[in-house]
Amino acid sequence: MDLLNVRLFSTPSVFKGDKRIIFPSRKIEALFYYIFVNKEATREELASLLWPDVDPQTGRKNVRNALYYIKKSLNLDAIISPNNSIVIYNPQVETHSDLERLLSDDKWFDAYTGDFLQGFVVKDEEALENWILSSREKYKSIYVQKLYRKLKEDYARGAYENVEKGARKLIEIDEYDERAYRLLIKALAEMNMYNKAADVYNKLCEKLNKDLGIVPDIKTRTLYKNIQNKRSYTEVFKIDRDRIMFYGRKRELDILNRNYTDFVNDENYNAVMIVGEAGIGKTTLKDRFIEEVVSNDIFILESNCYQAEEEFLLRPWMGILSKIASIIQEENIKIPSSWSEIIQAFFPTLKLNGIKTERDFNSVGSSLRLTLLEETIISIFREIANIKKTIIIFDDIQWMDNLSLNILAGMMLHLGKEILFITTCRNGYPQRVENFIAEMSCKGRMKKIELERFTKEEVIDFTRKALPNHSLNDDMYEKIYQETEGNTFFIVEYINSLREN
Ligand SMILES: Nc1ncnc2c1ncn2[C@@H]1O[C@H](COP(=O)(O)OP(=O)(O)O)[C@@H](O)[C@H]1O
Ligand SMILES: [Mg+2]
Repeated sequence: MDLLNVRLFSTPSVFKGDKRIIFPSRKIEALFYYIFVNKEATREELASLLWPDVDPQTGRKNVRNALYYIKKSLNLDAIISPNNSIVIYNPQVETHSDLERLLSDDKWFDAYTGDFLQGFVVKDEEALENWILSSREKYKSIYVQKLYRKLKEDYARGAYENVEKGARKLIEIDEYDERAYRLLIKALAEMNMYNKAADVYNKLCEKLNKDLGIVPDIKTRTLYKNIQNKRSYTEVFKIDRDRIMFYGRKRELDILNRNYTDFVNDENYNAVMIVGEAGIGKTTLKDRFIEEVVSNDIFILESNCYQAEEEFLLRPWMGILSKIASIIQEENIKIPSSWSEIIQAFFPTLKLNGIKTERDFNSVGSSLRLTLLEETIISIFREIANIKKTIIIFDDIQWMDNLSLNILAGMMLHLGKEILFITTCRNGYPQRVENFIAEMSCKGRMKKIELERFTKEEVIDFTRKALPNHSLNDDMYEKIYQETEGNTFFIVEYINSLREN
């Protein structure tokens, strides 16, 4: 008897020997796949899957006909009925499939070549569609998990080429999966392919910026920075113009660190807002703090608000939620599909859980929709925070739109005991931000850290330490202080220009 070869990943097909089987219709083909995958099904189940709207008798008749056509197309009894109510896939028919390889212990690596039944559409069949979509998610996540497990082993035993290969597969499956990018960058760096690692990192930055308007995760950025440092030790040491020593801010870092310790130890802590003029060092202070606490035991979700995007409602949340999407995938978290539907109604490019549906939220009144969105975001974050401690960061909140601010306020009020919120904000913020700050402060949810200009003594000390090989006289120091007025950005610029001369 000829061997059957069933291909379920990417474009599906069935071959008997070297002959491709053509089924008379999509429905009949779908029925075959369904029984093949499940190995067993009741006739009732099949009828309600493919003909949900007809009466039971017609349904049974349609199933009977379809089974007949499957048999005729294959010219073989691949599906048999041991009794009146159930059908099974005939174990006597020797069948190979990519699904069986995926589920095996040794042949799975190349088995998954794309989505389950990719491009296979049966119009207006909701039950069938749901089966296809949920299977798609299921097998993809099985493959991704197997890959991650293997990559971890490969990495541990120093098989970096395998890690590279596997990580590239993961990226093919999910082009925003930063965990995979990190593995790839690490593997390349271990093989001393620093240029290639830099390439991968830069492409990721470009992609995230172009598609989602976000920067890579803090973990990815820190990894890349560390790799760059490592590299500059092994190669010629060169001064990085943008990276000068970090000066001072001990008191502020102390406040941040103490608050963080309380957060980690489940004691009373606050949301923190770093406030100050442009260039004073808000972003740098926040980064410095985060670099110290970054670890695998904590989720750090970060987003920047941009002036140019002040008018784009909810844009700052897009960055955070797209990271949530990858956490949900990474940690294999099951969230109700209604949640992902609501998120998708507001963020059409975001896929949580991958379950796509066509529900129309336009019919729901707009204020209700927003309440729904806020509640959903809160529920999702509660799930996330249950797994690991979570920090949410917004940089330059003075440019956050009103809607995003409202959601943030709701989150702080409801999740203030579960999540640590860090924001930075420029002086001279608009009224909506003023209101936000007033509300959060009065409810005792948020502390401000005001970043001040450096004093004359500090400016001198800073310059001395940054330029240990320059001997400057008192007039010069005086001049630096006068010209920079103690603003960090101007001090750093001054130091750099002295250094270059
Ligand atoms: N404590 C610091 N020590 C050294 N350089 C700093 C410090 N804080 C900020 N800088 C530098 O000053 C410039 C402006 O800082 P940034 O954090 O971007 O300011 P802000 O976010 O408040 O506008 C950057 O080039 C940064 O590297
Ligand atoms: Mg900044």
